[in-house]
Amino acid sequence: MSENYVYYQGELVKEDDVKISVRSKAFNYGLGVFEGIRAYWDDEEEQLYGFKLKEHYERLKQSAKTVNLNFDLTVDDLCRGTVELLKKNNCRQTTYIRPIVYNDAQDIGPTLDVKDVKVVIYTQPLNKYAGKPELSVGVTSWRRLSNNQLPPRTKATAAYMNSALAALETKRAGFDEAIFLTNGDNVCEGSGENIFIFKKGKLITPPPSDNILEGITRELVMKLAREEMGLEVLERSISRSELYVADEVFFSGTAMEVTPIVEVDHRTIGNGHEGEVCKQIKKLFFGLTTGRNPKYTESCTPVYEK
Ligand SMILES: Cc1ncc(COP(=O)(O)O)c(C=O)c1O
Repeated sequence: MSENYVYYQGELVKEDDVKISVRSKAFNYGLGVFEGIRAYWDDEEEQLYGFKLKEHYERLKQSAKTVNLNFDLTVDDLCRGTVELLKKNNCRQTTYIRPIVYNDAQDIGPTLDVKDVKVVIYTQPLNKYAGKPELSVGVTSWRRLSNNQLPPRTKATAAYMNSALAALETKRAGFDEAIFLTNGDNVCEGSGENIFIFKKGKLITPPPSDNILEGITRELVMKLAREEMGLEVLERSISRSELYVADEVFFSGTAMEVTPIVEVDHRTIGNGHEGEVCKQIKKLFFGLTTGRNPKYTESCTPVYEK
């Protein structure tokens, strides 16, 4: 029995009242798209801030449109519904928000030309996702799905079999996380995060044409590096061996936040500890997630009325 509420088809309902059939196409074929969002708790202010809600729901709508899982709720409806849900669940710690749009038709066959599209959002507490402050990662033998196999910018549920296979392989090999290469041998991203390298004074990250998910945290990291740190930021292909000789490597993502990588395929990165650029970006990032940086308050939606 869960005491939690979820947002389901535009309303807040008890989590236990939402059922999904064993026949649902979402369950049988993974026909859905989703988001991962954080809400950050500020202990001093006793306030929770939904972080970049609008950007996440715009991406969700685009994902749904791309795979033909259209639904009527607007970005504003979803943002409002999320704030109401966080309030209803009395979330008073940093929380992960998981919206899913899925094909709930129940006939046999993996089809997307359906009307039975459902939208559900649930919440769960999430502090640190990485499990460690500094990561050792390995390049996986699995390749990232390309745009003409399963569009990476859609955040499709089915694509996470690809992520899970990579994570399984690299975790069994003793690493903390996986790095995917593209079918064309370029560095792509982690199983659920984007990647950056810092080399010769420049911050470099793979471009969307290398089949990455266009991360919302990635966008913010590029902005912070350019505008707050005056760094040159390049979106260009990166080859595997460039990782080994980078001065710094780090991940960005909603769950992973900004997390340094200190080893790739057993090669030590830099001096084997978090580098200065990553440290500074992390400081800027955590300095704005609870509305404390006036330049970035638009990214933070307060949940509780004061
Ligand atoms: C495959 C993949 N890449 C990158 C990211 C990072 O994206 P964001 O910063 O929008 O969370 C995620 C997480 O959503 C992801 O699943």
